[in-house]
Amino acid sequence: MTSALGVDGRRILVVTGAGVSAESGIPTFRGPDGYWRKLNPRKLATAEAFRADPNLVWEWYEERRRLIRAAHPNAAHRAIATLADRAAGFLLLTQNVDDLHERAGTPSESIVKIHGDIFVNRCDSCGYQDRKDVSPAPVPTCPKCAGVLRPGVVWFDEELHPADVGRVEAFLAQGACDFVLVVGTTASFPYIRDWSLRGAGSTGLVIEVNPCDTELTPRVHRIVRAPAATVIPALIM
Ligand code: OAD
Repeated sequence: MTSALGVDGRRILVVTGAGVSAESGIPTFRGPDGYWRKLNPRKLATAEAFRADPNLVWEWYEERRRLIRAAHPNAAHRAIATLADRAAGFLLLTQNVDDLHERAGTPSESIVKIHGDIFVNRCDSCGYQDRKDVSPAPVPTCPKCAGVLRPGVVWFDEELHPADVGRVEAFLAQGACDFVLVVGTTASFPYIRDWSLRGAGSTGLVIEVNPCDTELTPRVHRIVRAPAATVIPALIM
């Protein structure tokens, strides 16, 4: 256990992954009941898979949308929203495509959803976007150009959106954070590890909140081995 952190007037980067929503009932990807334990990401989370079988991919995303709509933000989402409110400089970099951080009260302008937003429908042909309900079959089409609509997320065989990368880089360029809180992520992606470490610069602390070891663990300054909703509210003074 780590001692509580003073947050007022601090500069803070929070990096979250699926674990922050686990206590809201949303499965992780690589945990014991995680999606990737029973489903093949190459068949569901690549642009190639979508081209091969858009109905199958839409069905999976629609099922996840239903689960997320029925879920509620937990104490970790709410505590992070409090951090956003009290910090002098704040960015929440989330890999989650759910909307639980926003529903807990973190303003959208303080969030970079680096893997996209599951509730967005986007046209691959003309770039049209909306947030309407769709039915997975037949495949939803664009009202502007009749192209195929897809979920507005970033898949494994795709690049991050440059505008999102730019927002993270702009925040980092403004100066080192007092601390970087890395919550509920295996930190499998190199850019997540890189941003977490660079966020703290040479003066700040990287604090990992996760019940298990991750790829970032050997490089963090403090480790809190506990579930996020239990521990983050107590971590914040
Ligand atoms: P993972 O499923 O890889 O990791 C979830 C992490 O949350 C694990 O380290 C767990 O130990 C931890 N965890 C579980 N319950 C927790 C709790 N109650 N409190 C805190 N931590 C908990 O999920 P991500 O790291 O988010 O991308 O995965 C990153 C990306 O890989 C996802 O955005 C998704 C996935 O494939 C794409 O689909 C492109």
